[in-house]
Amino acid sequence: MKVTARSTPNIALIKYWGNRNNDLRLPAYDSLSMTIDTPSVDITVEDSENFSLRSFLADGTEKNLEEKDIARFMKHRELTNHYLHFLGIEEMIPENIAITIESGIPPSIGLASSAAVFSCIAKCYGSFGGTELNDEQVSVIARLGSGSATRSIFGGFSAIEAGDGNDIDTAKGVQIADESHWPLYDIIIVPSQEEKAVGSTEGHAIAQTSPDWTQRVEAMPRRQSECISAILNKDFEKRQVVSEEDCMDMHHVMETSSTPLKYLSNETHRILGEVKELRSSKHLEVLYTMDAGPTVHLFCTPDARADILSFANAQQGCTVFETTVGPGTSMIEKA
Ligand code: PMV
Repeated sequence: MKVTARSTPNIALIKYWGNRNNDLRLPAYDSLSMTIDTPSVDITVEDSENFSLRSFLADGTEKNLEEKDIARFMKHRELTNHYLHFLGIEEMIPENIAITIESGIPPSIGLASSAAVFSCIAKCYGSFGGTELNDEQVSVIARLGSGSATRSIFGGFSAIEAGDGNDIDTAKGVQIADESHWPLYDIIIVPSQEEKAVGSTEGHAIAQTSPDWTQRVEAMPRRQSECISAILNKDFEKRQVVSEEDCMDMHHVMETSSTPLKYLSNETHRILGEVKELRSSKHLEVLYTMDAGPTVHLFCTPDARADILSFANAQQGCTVFETTVGPGTSMIEKA
């Protein structure tokens, strides 16, 4: 058997940071995002005589995988087997498989490459063998590799419902509105292509050490429901206010945890200052958000797109991606 799936990153508007169970990546609270249409990753999983994992970059060069990368995929497969056992279908994925990743996403720049990769591999696993898992089940498998990958299964706008307890299936993805609901753009400004020092897996594990963690957790249900209703009502301003508040609060928790994690650079802050000025002088519908890196995401409406794009392209030494709402993870080939 051979299956190939395609997926893309999603960018959170209400951020996931911190778990109630690190091993199973069970988030501490709900979160919400928009799935973008590009750049994408394709993954092929096929029967093989041995286990193998190979990863190729956009230009076709093979990435040198470190031991910790391979260990993460092995752990993900082990956890996936636990979940399949829980569903009563553990024989779905054979012991020996060959996994080939073809990624168009520059690694570790805050562009959620792990979300695209683990949602994509989850789709392959969920279609391997006779049984086809549904999107909710595939989202659980995605979560076992990267919490935010839970949301990339779905097109448009989606959430992680964190649930409670420690059962493997208690946190899952759910679609809030599909990709035709609200045509928005995410113009992405990447100030630096350096790999980040501390990855999000390690970051989640120390989130609770911030003195302001409890305050964050308490604010999350309000933020989540405000953002969901802003999306359903296409209320840009309400969505802007709540998602910027949440983004800066997440970075505050990151920067006050022990060890402090400082993902935003001087360049990020300079860009934010200029965006705010541009927004008020031209009355543009644009909001900013940043994940675990210096990359700035500028979400905007079609009316603001041309101004935001020319602002982004004027940034010296930055890479710019233009994206819009994407359709989520899909099956490319099954043979
Ligand atoms: O899925 P992870 O473990 O890489 O966590 C991602 C966390 C953030 O990108 C910072 C926020 C989010 O909700 O995507």
